[in-house]
Amino acid sequence: MKAAAARGDGAAQKRVLLIVSGGIAAYKALELVRLLKTSGVDVRCVLTKAATEFVTPLSLQALSGEPVGQDLFSLTDEQEMGHIVLSRSADLVVVAPATANILAKMAQGLADDLATTLLLATDTPVMVAPAMNVRMWEHPATQANMALLVDRGVMVVGPDEGEMACGEFGAGRFVEPPMLRDAILGWFGGQSSSGAAAASVGFQGAALGWEPLAGRRALVTAGPTHEPVDPVRYLGNRSSGLQGYAIAAALVVLGARVTLVSGPVSLADPAGVNVVRVETGLEMERAVRAALPVDIAVCAAAVADWRVDGISGRKLKKRADMAPPVLTLVPNPDILAILSAPGPERPTLVVGFAAETDDVEVNAVAKRTRKGCDWIVANDVSAGTNVMGGPDNRAVLITEDGIERWPLLPKADLARRLAQRIAARFEAPVMASGGERV
Ligand SMILES: Cc1cc2nc3c(=O)[nH]c(=O)nc-3n(C[C@H](O)[C@H](O)[C@H](O)COP(=O)(O)O)c2cc1C
Repeated sequence: MKAAAARGDGAAQKRVLLIVSGGIAAYKALELVRLLKTSGVDVRCVLTKAATEFVTPLSLQALSGEPVGQDLFSLTDEQEMGHIVLSRSADLVVVAPATANILAKMAQGLADDLATTLLLATDTPVMVAPAMNVRMWEHPATQANMALLVDRGVMVVGPDEGEMACGEFGAGRFVEPPMLRDAILGWFGGQSSSGAAAASVGFQGAALGWEPLAGRRALVTAGPTHEPVDPVRYLGNRSSGLQGYAIAAALVVLGARVTLVSGPVSLADPAGVNVVRVETGLEMERAVRAALPVDIAVCAAAVADWRVDGISGRKLKKRADMAPPVLTLVPNPDILAILSAPGPERPTLVVGFAAETDDVEVNAVAKRTRKGCDWIVANDVSAGTNVMGGPDNRAVLITEDGIERWPLLPKADLARRLAQRIAARFEAPVMASGGERV
């Protein structure tokens, strides 16, 4: 996937490989091709056998101006452009409409026709626009397949809710082609402006309709705390709040109702998030308790371990004839341990962060046990990594199942990945991992 994302970065002419599968909404693929072409995007189409029952290859060929692929074993197609080359020929693969059947095949890695073979062979980012009857969409099998696909990084646009071709009402309608066109152009825009899909969270906020965390409440803490010494001085740390804010935004995108308890940072409130601003560790503890009960708690804040005992009400004066003041520190409340403690208000999933400078994994595994939380996201914050306050993060996710080492990612991407792992955990407890398992 990364190779193609990089291709999408530089190339002026964007190319989409559009896979049309066999649903009643297949005719809308014609409109999508037209819209993409008028937006300056090259489109090459592949149809499943079932799709040809709904839309003709000739129509798609005429609109796209490119040959249409249908048959894995076609001598002429393979000679002109083999399926492996075809699978790598685009900046983005879009499956629209995506039937329940093709989503299931993608989830399982089946490759029994040209469309699914391309999907298995491609290293290009994939976007799907599901369209099906509401019962098919709500079926646990489809939902589990979706969770798997999202966990692997597949982008999802739609489906919409409304009246369906079959006369029923509910979720499963194909998104309108202009919205899908906007989602595709938005993704290309995010790629070229910030690289490495850094803007994907924002883009999905506009376009993603799949909300696996709908009805779930989440609490995220972010930023540093400032522990006052006197009215003008405080003890603080370098946390920027970027990672926690991105996580709050990513959880909202997946449908959660999110309260973000934030220490002092210079970031704007993420859209759709209830932000509670605090300054000290004690205030953060109070705000966290007030936000309960929640289903999910993600503690990304760098809460000061200690606060000053006996804060001076007046500015401490420097005097040549006096020794410097001695600060006595007392422990701050351990918010992660408080949330992780068994009890009626314990969130179903508690995720802690471990900022470490030495023996990152060993210390993080120990922290998970010590605090009693479910997952730990560990990062190496030693000098030179630029994680604290910087734009990127390299995390190790420690769960009950093992250790996943994630690559260096923009913080928005890491947030999206974590939110998707959380959604997968709530959707279907046993999930494939997107990272390296040990
Ligand atoms: C009239 C008709 C409409 C259909 N519409 C849909 C649909 O909207 N979504 C869907 O998932 N399947 C739909 N199906 C079922 C698919 O065509 C069937 O599952 C097929 O195997 C899909 O093949 P494909 O995924 O390879 O394209 C429809 C079938 C018929 C006969």
